[in-house]
Amino acid sequence: MAKKVTVVGAGFYGSTTALRLAEYNIFDEVVLTDILEGKSEGLALDMNQSRSIEGFETKLIGATTTADGGGYEKTANSDVVVITAGLPRKPGMSRMDLIGVNAGIVRGVAENIAKHSPNAVIIVVSNPLDEMTALAQIATNFPKNRVMGQAGMLDTARFTNFVAEKLGVAVSSVKTLTLGSHGDTMVPVPSRCTVDGTPLSEKLSQAEIDELVDRTRNGGAEVVALLKTGSAYYAPSAAAARMAKAVIEDSGEVMPVCAWVDGEYGISGVYLGVEAEIGKVGIRKVVESKLTDSEVASLKEAAEAVRAKQADVQTL
Ligand code: LAC
Repeated sequence: MAKKVTVVGAGFYGSTTALRLAEYNIFDEVVLTDILEGKSEGLALDMNQSRSIEGFETKLIGATTTADGGGYEKTANSDVVVITAGLPRKPGMSRMDLIGVNAGIVRGVAENIAKHSPNAVIIVVSNPLDEMTALAQIATNFPKNRVMGQAGMLDTARFTNFVAEKLGVAVSSVKTLTLGSHGDTMVPVPSRCTVDGTPLSEKLSQAEIDELVDRTRNGGAEVVALLKTGSAYYAPSAAAARMAKAVIEDSGEVMPVCAWVDGEYGISGVYLGVEAEIGKVGIRKVVESKLTDSEVASLKEAAEAVRAKQADVQTL
């Protein structure tokens, strides 16, 4: 069976994700869509012309789409769909400031995707992330395991980078974890952070860890403030592409993602950042691990914060 992934939205996040997916050379087709006429076709043409240099055979296909569903036939029967559609933040904005405008965009996209790729696994990256993931599930009416969001992979990668830089060690020697929301109630989990197997708390003082946790929580805003137009896309696209790869390879990798939580940590009925085993069904299962009491309390707080907002998206 041909392996096909669609990336919705050909902004920096979407186009970078499409190129990363193509360069893995594991898909037959990567479809990149956008509402700006010719943009995705132009980018796909350009990327295809890099194939002989970079040595990948995956074919990129551009598709201009319209709000009433035009152009979506090119996305038909995708195995995985990454939804990047929507506006990014401007300096000073919170992700939540985007909820009204992005809800309309994500709902429309999700409905069209569901029509053409009824068996796809959906990976949402549009912001506010936890709410847009919940909305995509509602709009597609897909089983909850087939809709997930990208956030924990990115936040964890940022935390890892900050720890590695602070200690002057290889990023490969650092393991970190963030759970909770992709927003103010992000829950970095210091008890699961190690450097070459040694607990982070033996390498850094509590004040130093707190500083890195804070920088992680504001990691997206820090990039937005520097860029002035647009938000981060290199690390976010790496995270989303790895999740799509885990799905198509049915790898069973455990990753921090935004997944439907149904009883784990005593939390139910909400999309939340947790660790989950990823495979071709999407989320195979949420993996509950040992956290400190205060980390579980923070996770519950995050769950209640996003639960309230996810209830709002029903009507958006
Ligand atoms: C960020 C955006 C993509 O965290 O949510 O950079």
